[in-house]
Amino acid sequence: MLIKKAEQIKPSEITPKEIYQQRRHFLKTSVNTGLGLAASGLLATRAADVFAGYGLKTLNHVKNSQYSLDDELTKYKDVTTYNNFYEFGASKSSPAATAHKLNAEPWSIKVEGHVENPASYHLEDIITEQTLEERIYRLRCVERWSMVVPWLGFPLAELIKKVKPTSQAKFVEFTTLYRPEEMQGQRRGVLAWPYVEGLRMDEAMHPLAFLAVGLYGEVLPNQNGAPIRLVVPWKYGFKSIKSIVKIRFTAQQPVSSWTRSAPHEYGFYSNVNPDVDHPRWSQRRERRIGEFFKRKTLMFNGYAEDVAHLYKNMDLKKYF
Ligand code: MTE
Repeated sequence: MLIKKAEQIKPSEITPKEIYQQRRHFLKTSVNTGLGLAASGLLATRAADVFAGYGLKTLNHVKNSQYSLDDELTKYKDVTTYNNFYEFGASKSSPAATAHKLNAEPWSIKVEGHVENPASYHLEDIITEQTLEERIYRLRCVERWSMVVPWLGFPLAELIKKVKPTSQAKFVEFTTLYRPEEMQGQRRGVLAWPYVEGLRMDEAMHPLAFLAVGLYGEVLPNQNGAPIRLVVPWKYGFKSIKSIVKIRFTAQQPVSSWTRSAPHEYGFYSNVNPDVDHPRWSQRRERRIGEFFKRKTLMFNGYAEDVAHLYKNMDLKKYF
């Protein structure tokens, strides 16, 4: 069992972000010098006692990832209080204020559609079977702000390989929990509930597509999509669907909630692209939370080398 109950952390035990980052660099170096195994234990315990802002459960035995960036991390407080999670209201502050009403335990995920092994998994079983990685990824919201978050999780491809999609499976559709008694935003028709998102099969199998179960050493706070969410770092943030209960393999391209509500504004692909404007604003620049000056938005959010080949012969203005 990888999930452990966090001990009570006194404020005096909280370590500043710089030290967390130093430990991360130490880990990276140690992995390269063959000390990785010992160090991964160190990261797990140290990261855990650093950012227990909400006293959440810590995730142990986390290994560092070759896919992590060296960008400065966005503060834990910002990552967990400036959120988009319309199930808890449309303002950035309402998820942190109201998401405690969500009961994320127990949790199961149904996998269905064109697969050889349809299943209903308990979250604990999935986590126990997976080796968790820490991956520092940029998340760029379509609204022109961005963050850098140390996610904990595992590649989506690992789960996909286990359920064995058939040759008919061309897309993967993800669905969020529908529970209006706990998610008060679902009592209003802002979006067609439950929230749905989708990926093409090759996007879903890409090693950067990540299922996150934690951040900053702990399990996900509810407002960030507890207990399990998608993180697709080269796409606008709304593709990174939270609190997933269903994964379905389909022959047809899924219709995501945002595409359904405004098809001219939110396309299926939604790759971060400074050259394709949102109909109501330019996507050329972005504001990284915690920084004063805006920065240039990078093609595919800076992941072009890894993912551009997926869209080789596509007109990205048409398939936005
Ligand atoms: N998932 C669900 N179920 N509901 C949402 O409203 N918002 C999306 C995405 N996933 C959203 C969602 C958007 S617009 C963004 S930018 C990211 O979550 C924000 O993730 P964060 O709050 O962890 O930064």
